[in-house]
Amino acid sequence: MTDPSRITVRRATAEDAVALADVGSATFVENFGHLYTLDDLQAFLVGSHSPAARARQLAEPGVAVWLAELPGEPAIGYVTIGSCKLPVDNLEAQAAEIRQLYVRKRWHNQQLGARFMQIGLDWLAEQGRTPLYVGVWSENYGAQRFYERYGFTKIGEYGFPVGKKIDREFILKQK
Ligand SMILES: CC(C)(COP(=O)(O)OP(=O)(O)OC[C@H]1O[C@@H](n2cnc3c(N)ncnc32)[C@H](O)[C@@H]1OP(=O)(O)O)[C@@H](O)C(=O)NCCC(=O)NCCS
Repeated sequence: MTDPSRITVRRATAEDAVALADVGSATFVENFGHLYTLDDLQAFLVGSHSPAARARQLAEPGVAVWLAELPGEPAIGYVTIGSCKLPVDNLEAQAAEIRQLYVRKRWHNQQLGARFMQIGLDWLAEQGRTPLYVGVWSENYGAQRFYERYGFTKIGEYGFPVGKKIDREFILKQK
């Protein structure tokens, strides 16, 4: 097994749309692909994880993406942070959202998620952007435990569409 200390994390640029589409699709499918029909999964991947969708996201003002990499391998994880797009009543003007946080399964539980969180929180603090929200699938207990450690608590729910399927998603807010 490769030493996790060799993993580097860097801010993604407009040149990374294809790499981001690749790691975004692969990590979504390996973690959640079994929950959907092929049609629903395909529609979601095209809408959210295609190179074109990623290029749009990378160009969005106030959005930042970081990629984790090992030399000679496709990216092994990423985090996307931007303004909050979750349906929150009376949303604060400076509210931010962890839009996506994904690590390839092989690399879970090696503190890469924690590294991404620290980078994102530092970046938001520098700009005075607060509070921070995240949407998490109601049955994703591992991620809910992960966010609890950063002081997130549930403040609401909404329906997250994956193709024609609507998932029950919790809205968490950092205290
Ligand atoms: C959430 C995630 C990014 C954490 O990355 P990581 O590098 O494994 O995180 P760390 O090593 O810093 O922390 C480990 C914690 O992550 C959480 N975790 C572990 N496996 C997980 C999984 N399959 N899904 C979600 N969370 C998981 C747990 O809280 C774990 O702590 P535990 O020992 O109490 O179980 C990673 O597990 C992942 O990519 N999960 C699948 C995608 C996902 O659920 N993303 C969040 C969507 S909102």
